[in-house]
Amino acid sequence: MAADKTNGVRILGIESSCDETAAAVVVDGRQILSSVVASQIDIHRKYGGVVPELASREHLRQIVPVVREALAGARLRFDDLDAIGVTQGPGLVGSLLVGITYGKTLAEALGKPLVAVNHLEGHVHAAFLEAYQEGDAPQLPAVCLIVSGGHTVLYEVKANAENRSQALDYRKLGQTRDDAAGEAYDKVAKLLGLGYPGGPILDRLAAAADGVPAPVKFGPTKTRGNPLDFSFSGLKTAVLYHLRERPDYNSEIAKREQAIAQGQRKFEELLPLCSRATLGLVREFQNVVVRDLVERTLAAADETLVQTILVSGGVAANSQLRATLRDRADSLGLKIYFPSRALSTDNAAMIAAAAYSRYVRGTFADHSLNAMASMPLA
Ligand code: KG4
Ligand code: ZN
Repeated sequence: MAADKTNGVRILGIESSCDETAAAVVVDGRQILSSVVASQIDIHRKYGGVVPELASREHLRQIVPVVREALAGARLRFDDLDAIGVTQGPGLVGSLLVGITYGKTLAEALGKPLVAVNHLEGHVHAAFLEAYQEGDAPQLPAVCLIVSGGHTVLYEVKANAENRSQALDYRKLGQTRDDAAGEAYDKVAKLLGLGYPGGPILDRLAAAADGVPAPVKFGPTKTRGNPLDFSFSGLKTAVLYHLRERPDYNSEIAKREQAIAQGQRKFEELLPLCSRATLGLVREFQNVVVRDLVERTLAAADETLVQTILVSGGVAANSQLRATLRDRADSLGLKIYFPSRALSTDNAAMIAAAAYSRYVRGTFADHSLNAMASMPLA
């Protein structure tokens, strides 16, 4: 059935910046008609991280079926679309190029505008999208923490001075000096023989370790200069040194590596292979990460006098981070918004949503659009 053009601006979003090939259709930057994500985790898992060459090849394989599925899910045809929004960066250049080339070709063939989107702006919009689905609208200005495998950054988000069409302005308040928080999760999980990605399994093991004494205490992370900057590589090194000092961890690490190699990577399968010391260590690691994320985010809200906090990115799925930030924000009378888990991790609905305000302003890309490995938002 052909769609009715009076029903709002329909944007097809395309995302391929890292290891998820994603496409989605969003109306007026607010209403998700479909959102399809093909994850490559199974391909990269055995290498313990994303292998860029494999990622590009997989995007090439997935892009056409993923876009078709997104259109079918939205019950639309290509002709019904008003524009194509595509992630320009930051990300892996080879991966980005697959989405960009496909988006450019599609836009040209259909005679529709192409909109270039900053992946980070997409993550900010994920928090708004979730709120809109629930009939809510976050108040601006806000502080937004984007925390994923590739990024840990705090922005002040304001309505555009001309306040047109959901356009936002950004000011960077702080960022990681070294590893992203998700990267720290992935590296520590690797050290502990807990597979890839590390966040979800460490999150569950830490919850199981509530009340278990920590075999070591890690101090708060200090960064000289901007107090809103983060640093996670020292914590990862502290975990490494602790494991080196205690060779009694080695046999359980080897057992878990063996279990993972045999495909036994579920929480229920790995929990019995973890000693109390390991559980206490995981909990202590997570306590420090969560404490740093929470303290700096609240300090940013205090400094900018905002009443709203937005959290987005893969690590926003962390249960301890969600519970702690929610409690602390509630006690301070601040509103806090997390996307659902599906919108926290990389997806294309957030890209289509971020493309909307550019579409309305007529900010279009042309055939010269190129991938940008690093692409600051502010
Ligand atoms: O946003 P995302 O899908 O991709 C990037 O842009 O990086 O985030 C993936 C990252 C991985 O590092 C993963 O370990 C982490 O998010 N992650 C988590 C959790 N779920 C995913 N970290 C902590 N707790 C979680 N529950
Ligand atoms: Zn991301």
